[in-house]
Amino acid sequence: MGKIKTIGVLTSGGDAPGMNAAIRSVTRAGIYNGFSIKGIYRGYEGLINGETKAFTTEDVSGIISRGGTILKTARSKDFMTPEGRQRAYETCQREEIDALVVIGGNGSLSGARIFAEEFDFPIIGLPGTIDNDLYGTDATIGYDTTMNTIMDCVDRIRDTANSHERIFFVEVMGREAGYLAQNTAIACGAEAAIIPEDMTDADQLAEFMHRGIRKSKKSCIVIVSESPKCGALYYADRVKKEFPGFDVRVSILGHLQRGGSPSARDRILASCMGVGAVEAIKQGQRNVMIGYRFNDVVYVPFSECIRTDKPFDKRLIKVLDELSI
Ligand code: F6P
Repeated sequence: MGKIKTIGVLTSGGDAPGMNAAIRSVTRAGIYNGFSIKGIYRGYEGLINGETKAFTTEDVSGIISRGGTILKTARSKDFMTPEGRQRAYETCQREEIDALVVIGGNGSLSGARIFAEEFDFPIIGLPGTIDNDLYGTDATIGYDTTMNTIMDCVDRIRDTANSHERIFFVEVMGREAGYLAQNTAIACGAEAAIIPEDMTDADQLAEFMHRGIRKSKKSCIVIVSESPKCGALYYADRVKKEFPGFDVRVSILGHLQRGGSPSARDRILASCMGVGAVEAIKQGQRNVMIGYRFNDVVYVPFSECIRTDKPFDKRLIKVLDELSI
């Protein structure tokens, strides 16, 4: 492949606050450094269908504060097939796109890895997901905003939980990862968090229930990571059966967690990562995700960042346990 002149940028998978800041950053840093930029709409779907637009700096004006993604997003089934990826490659050839910046989570970067290998195509990934489950970066774009959104919601739930002396199971997103649940539980002074990394068995649930009573706490908030089998409804049912004296409620926060204006931290992270992506392309890097570790940009090979065993800091479990007595 010759010299890179045009960079395509797309967002893929679940949207995350700060994706727009990342699009703006890639566009402006790209133009500043002499590249042409093409926005690709609807993630890999748009790449397959040739939905592109040449971006100027004005195209990304006024978007840093907006949630969602101006490029739209999708989870493309077609891109999972060799035929779909072939069509996506043909779009790149036709549109003279020489490199891609893909902003998305686990699934999106897995797709990027396959495409990059199949067609020997340079791709830089940016971790755009509220879940914070990508390996090799301390934070992902959207994670901080979502924690703040959850915190605001749970603070409100606390008011009504206190007034009615109820137990609330609040379910938060995170798919297979407990970062959102554990950290927001600490931030909200919740009594417990139930996360996939530390599955709570029957006795643990009973233990913190009793602990709550012993402290004469009349209300109690438990943050639960979403899970198809044992989400907030499952635990609420169990408590209703095992502790019939309690007034139990469930609140599933759902997609409101993904919306809203990004926090300062997410805007800065996305801006630095976008600049990092363009710098990576200039350096001839390819097939790496831009991570942020100890306040510095790092390059994480795709094969590393999509690992499923991002280490969970077990000290956070101890912090919550000690502070919720
Ligand atoms: O990966 C981001 C995420 O918000 C997860 O936390 C959640 O499980 C999933 O996306 C929900 O996806 P959908 O948009 O398909 O409802």
